[in-house]
Amino acid sequence: MQSLHVELGDRRYPIFIGSDLDSQQLLAPYIHGRQVMVVSNTTVAPLYLQHFLQALQGLDKVVATCILPDGEQYKNIEHLHLIFDALLGAGFNRDCTVLALGGGVIGDMAGFAAACFQRGVYFVQVPTTLLSQVDSSVGGKTGINHPLGKNMIGAFQQPQVVLADMAHLKTLPKRELSAGLAEIIKYALLCDADFLVWLEQHMDQLVAGNLDLLAEAVYRSCAHKARIVANDEKEQGERALLNLGHTFGHAIESYLGYGVWLHGEAVATGMVMAADLSQQMGWISLQDVQRVKNIIQRAELPIHCPLIPLDEFLAFMAHDKKVLNGQLRLVLLKQLGQAIITRDFNVEAMHQAIRLNQK
Ligand code: NAD
Ligand code: GLY
Repeated sequence: MQSLHVELGDRRYPIFIGSDLDSQQLLAPYIHGRQVMVVSNTTVAPLYLQHFLQALQGLDKVVATCILPDGEQYKNIEHLHLIFDALLGAGFNRDCTVLALGGGVIGDMAGFAAACFQRGVYFVQVPTTLLSQVDSSVGGKTGINHPLGKNMIGAFQQPQVVLADMAHLKTLPKRELSAGLAEIIKYALLCDADFLVWLEQHMDQLVAGNLDLLAEAVYRSCAHKARIVANDEKEQGERALLNLGHTFGHAIESYLGYGVWLHGEAVATGMVMAADLSQQMGWISLQDVQRVKNIIQRAELPIHCPLIPLDEFLAFMAHDKKVLNGQLRLVLLKQLGQAIITRDFNVEAMHQAIRLNQK
């Protein structure tokens, strides 16, 4: 097992990464009250809930469960209420813990419920997808979607602990594994050129589900995320770099309808658009863009999105949280392994980058 910490002063917390982790022993110091609400979904619960309930019973906790339907289309206010219903129905109080057992959808919803319930209760993340292990479980962003924009309603709520168990990835569908690889590639492109070389060397084994290599990729990704979050918890600066590919990607996801394309798939094509625009700005070369496309394709991710009318694409981009004072800011690449956030780009070139990567 490997571990690292998100250094947030008295809210510092560990991320444990390994296979077949001893959840009872690892969770014990981080569940403070007696009441634990395990939030999961109809896919993950049949696979892993029983094991978790046993671990928690060993800790002498009062445990209740809230099992949500599975899917991004349920990451909304109606289904958030089901968690509040469960918490209130079970008579839980202010020192309870909400434990997310699932992918990013469950983590985001359970975390937001923890942020809101009685103005904030303890929160624990047990991410079960690759994407949630490398990204959404770390850093405390939680929330739900609105029909007019993704992740538009939410709060920062840091967990007490993150348990990333590689064994959970054995049951993860291949398409979901690839979606997680998109966020891993993101870290390499935005701040770690050596990691990009490592990914180029190992991509075939990663796609094949080699758990040792996946653990290494999760560790390296979480180390980057932990450092960036510790520097800029509330996204006043550096943390926005983690949104490489996301402004384009959110437009693709929102236009197609939540759940049609996976978040990681949309981010993958969004990173290609960002790379194309960076090339048009003269910052990276055509060969660099090809390298970005190659690693994304080797991760079995899309480099084109379906045709979306430009005005609608732009309208969804305008809802992005990085829009400041009505001005769109984008994360672009100064070079592979060095991203910047900027409003200083050529708008025509951005339109071209969008058009080029649709078919
Ligand atoms: P997800 O939560 O929808 O999970 C993907 C699918 O895999 C679901 O069908 C789920 O039930 C299933 N699943 C989960 N674990 C499994 C397992 N071990 N075995 C088999 N099936 C399993 O999607 P995701 O990719 O994990 O997360 C995407 C969500 O995360 C999006 O809503 C996105 O906005 C959010 N996100 C949040 C942050 C953040 O910082 N909070 C960062 C990135 C993404
Ligand atoms: N996924 C982007 C962030 O956590 O800031």
